[in-house]
Amino acid sequence: MTDDTPAASQELSTHGVGPWPGGRDAWPNGEHFDAELLENGDTRNVIDRYRYWTMEAIVADLDRARHGFHVAIENWQHDMNIGSIVRSANAFGAHTVHIVGRRRWNKRGAMVTDRYQHVMHHPDIAAFDAWAAAASLPVIAVDNIAGAVPIETFDWPEACVLLFGQEGPGLSPEASQAAQSIVEITQYGSTRSMNASAAAAVAMYAWVLQHAPR
Ligand SMILES: C[S@@+](CC[C@H](N)C(=O)[O-])C[C@H]1O[C@@H](n2cnc3c(N)ncnc32)[C@H](O)[C@@H]1O
Repeated sequence: MTDDTPAASQELSTHGVGPWPGGRDAWPNGEHFDAELLENGDTRNVIDRYRYWTMEAIVADLDRARHGFHVAIENWQHDMNIGSIVRSANAFGAHTVHIVGRRRWNKRGAMVTDRYQHVMHHPDIAAFDAWAAAASLPVIAVDNIAGAVPIETFDWPEACVLLFGQEGPGLSPEASQAAQSIVEITQYGSTRSMNASAAAAVAMYAWVLQHAPR
């Protein structure tokens, strides 16, 4: 705990803390604190370290420690999974989330984590691929299709983009062609595939196991 980490006061909701204990006279110093939250309490779903911080301060702090992997998702059908993938990207410290296809995406499962995440839009795979090449980031597609290597044996590049397909169609042919490697999560059951957001969480965690400092 650092000195400026507030002790949680009275819980007003499942996730929240109330107004800063002791009132204005006891408010902590620091530009990262949000006066409105100190005054009224902080019911956002943030870790305790970020209680009462402004959103800008939280994003700036996350920016100092984001990982080298990016996440990209094809968005042609307004897939409900995209929000959940964004939420996992936030949890695992993804550098940036890339939405490929339709600009509007289903934010429901994101639980507002997209506010703390850098999100870029690319109109199609060609534009996304050009961006990744310019950024010198290999595209690693994640799907259980022909040519995929099992995740247990894959060495993730430290800097890369993990590209996911949609429920139903999976990766588009253009997406799998853009990939430098294709990685599959080994399955043991009877269904053809996992839920896309579950697969994304597994893949991000696999990257983290190899590269995140412990
Ligand atoms: C529901 S799957 C559909 C496609 C799947 N290839 C099929 O044959 O049914 C949607 C997305 O989830 C991810 N996914 C699901 N299961 C996976 C697995 N076992 N390995 C890697 N990715 C998977 C991929 O990104 C895929 O594009």
